[in-house]
Amino acid sequence: MIDFNNIKNKFPIFKQKIKGKPLIYLDSANSAQKPKIVIDEISRFYETEFSNVGRSVHTLAVKATNKFEETRDIVKSYINAKHREEIIFTKGATDAINLAATAFGEKYINEGDEIILTELEHHSNYVPWHYLRNKRGAIIKFASINENGEIDVDEFKKIITEKTKIIAFTHISNVTGTILPVKKIIDLAKSKNIPVLIDGTQSAQHIGLDVQDLGCDFYAISCHKMYGPNGLGILYAKKKWADELPPYQGGGGMISEVKKDEITYADSPTKFEAGTMQTAEVVAFAKSIQFIQDLGIKNIEEHESQVLEYGLEKLRKNNSVNIIGNPSKRASIMSFTIKGIHPHDIATILDDDGVAIRAGHHCCQILHDKLKIPASARASIGVYNNKDDIDVLCESINKCKKVFNI
Ligand code: ALA
Repeated sequence: MIDFNNIKNKFPIFKQKIKGKPLIYLDSANSAQKPKIVIDEISRFYETEFSNVGRSVHTLAVKATNKFEETRDIVKSYINAKHREEIIFTKGATDAINLAATAFGEKYINEGDEIILTELEHHSNYVPWHYLRNKRGAIIKFASINENGEIDVDEFKKIITEKTKIIAFTHISNVTGTILPVKKIIDLAKSKNIPVLIDGTQSAQHIGLDVQDLGCDFYAISCHKMYGPNGLGILYAKKKWADELPPYQGGGGMISEVKKDEITYADSPTKFEAGTMQTAEVVAFAKSIQFIQDLGIKNIEEHESQVLEYGLEKLRKNNSVNIIGNPSKRASIMSFTIKGIHPHDIATILDDDGVAIRAGHHCCQILHDKLKIPASARASIGVYNNKDDIDVLCESINKCKKVFNI
């Protein structure tokens, strides 16, 4: 049995007080805190093994390269990819989606071609496609949400045409927490030979992943939200695409041969990893996966969903709080508004109690426009949160109402 009440001890950041109060960190959808084993691994690597990877042949370089490639194998088996060439390290999930959109777009998107996204996408899974729309004269269509903030597979059926070249959507919404019917959407796309990119920014840290079972073509992962180092992401690209797509950025390390008038490129994943990579970050990410595996992703899922249910129930009882979305399948995210208090004021007052939430449009303006609200407050749950944290959040919300006389 895992004692989730002790998990905070594994994260040095919780030793400090914020404004004299214990830190209640409810902003993990934005970025998660780092366990000591990840922090220690970064130090250990810099102190004893650091070197650039994939270039030199000296002892340290070989050691560092082996460690770096070991993480690739660990990620491969963690998400159950078939080939290690399908695991591409990037500087974040945003970079992963930019890579996929740019490389795929260059080869397969022409004027009038259609790209399907959803109204739930955060900017990382919209702006790269918008670039492509402008560059290639493509069209973007959005699958609509229903009144609960869900998207049914039928919404995709309505807008798919013979011009649809790719479908890209989030696994879990960063505002409503909606878990999308990923498998059904992929099956629909597959039946029409349309490739699918899943934005896993909000999912990989909360639920188990099996990319072969999902059958997706691309899957973008944000490592810093998986209790891993910042500045690191992963693009899973099915071998067919990893082989076929052109490189995204040019530089050292990604080439096969460079002549004055001709350049040939390495195979995947090297051809997508130009320049000096995030060595310590990649090496330490193996420890993030170990941290998750030691707890067990199923246990994490269960613990977080208990905390989420408790939080939703408590917030629902508060008449002034309007929770955004009511999806039947939801993970770890509670966004809300309180009539008469701007979300930034809510976040500022909560901060006085040591409660860290995010306020704003959460890089998800299209959804906020659709909901006709400029912003919302968002409490997002990580592995270290518990029901006591929710109690503090709710007390602090009540305090906030008092300040504003609501
Ligand atoms: N998209 C991230 C968030 O939801 C940054 O906060």
